Amino acid sequence: MCIQTDLIAHHKGLASYLVAAMEKHIVIGASGQLGIELIIGMQARYGVNAVVACDIIKSNDKDVNKSEFISLDATDINSVRKILKTGEFTHVYHLVAMLSAKGEENPIAGWDLNMKSLLNVLECAKEGFVKRVFWPSSIAVFGPNAPKIKTSQDTFCDPTTVYGVSKVAGELWAKYYFEHYGVDVRSVRYPGLIGHRSKPGGGTTDYAVEAFYCALDSKPFVCYLDKDEALPMMHMDDAVRATLDIMEAPCENIKTRTSYNLSGCSFSPSELNYELSKFVSNFITEYNPDYRQKIAASWPDSIDDSEAKNDWGWESEFSTSKLVKHMLDGLKSIV
Ligand code: SER
Repeated sequence: MCIQTDLIAHHKGLASYLVAAMEKHIVIGASGQLGIELIIGMQARYGVNAVVACDIIKSNDKDVNKSEFISLDATDINSVRKILKTGEFTHVYHLVAMLSAKGEENPIAGWDLNMKSLLNVLECAKEGFVKRVFWPSSIAVFGPNAPKIKTSQDTFCDPTTVYGVSKVAGELWAKYYFEHYGVDVRSVRYPGLIGHRSKPGGGTTDYAVEAFYCALDSKPFVCYLDKDEALPMMHMDDAVRATLDIMEAPCENIKTRTSYNLSGCSFSPSELNYELSKFVSNFITEYNPDYRQKIAASWPDSIDDSEAKNDWGWESEFSTSKLVKHMLDGLKSIV
């Protein structure tokens, strides 16, 4: 009985190994802040040859470039279709987006890029070229009417930025393609992401990454948010693990087909200054809030991610102090 059970388990293990070995992952928007980290995370989990990077411009990260690169303008459906129609890719990660602060400076361009590229990928998935799609949403789906503390999955989504509006619309499109066409699209609402491999661009939460660079250069940091403006944040290692875990979860576990709330840690600029001061003596943050303060004030302070925990076993591994230490170590390792 026991031997038989072992044999069945062995065959099941072998079968899932063989299925995984046949899977190939393509990241569209691979040269961005998250794309670079995701490619490296996937190389470690699935192997360099199981991952292909795709973007308009090739990244100059030498680890990312161990995987094949394909040049692509994701706003052109014919180009997207040409690549996905080959049938080579089982999993698509569509990361292309203009973030919140840059989007406020270019609202129509932000809307066009965010929506057109997503709909192109969803259309190709509907045509049956790929097995599964990942598309990131954000804490930016929330607006001034959502509760600030431990904001729940299903509260008001009344964003005040074009980025947030595009994420709410994208979530509803994801659900629409799942319900009408059976497209297996999965999504999480990322908090502000903190990683050392590339500088972010155009986000409101990105002040935190800038603070690390100033701390290491022993320069005062001028922050564009108020000192007490707490925001949900996440270390890149957590974000990459969440992305790969939700993509590997059995289909029946994915009960939310808009996007899952995801929580890492939460801190304000003054709390970040305090944590950085433990490693960099005399580190000073000055405050000069601009239009991005209003964006930050419309977002939650912290997030309730119980659905992600219950449905596919999500658990964050990074507290604020662990995030700060890892980020500093990561930055020191590349200089
Ligand atoms: N990091 C994003 C931004 O600040 C929010 O998801 O725009």
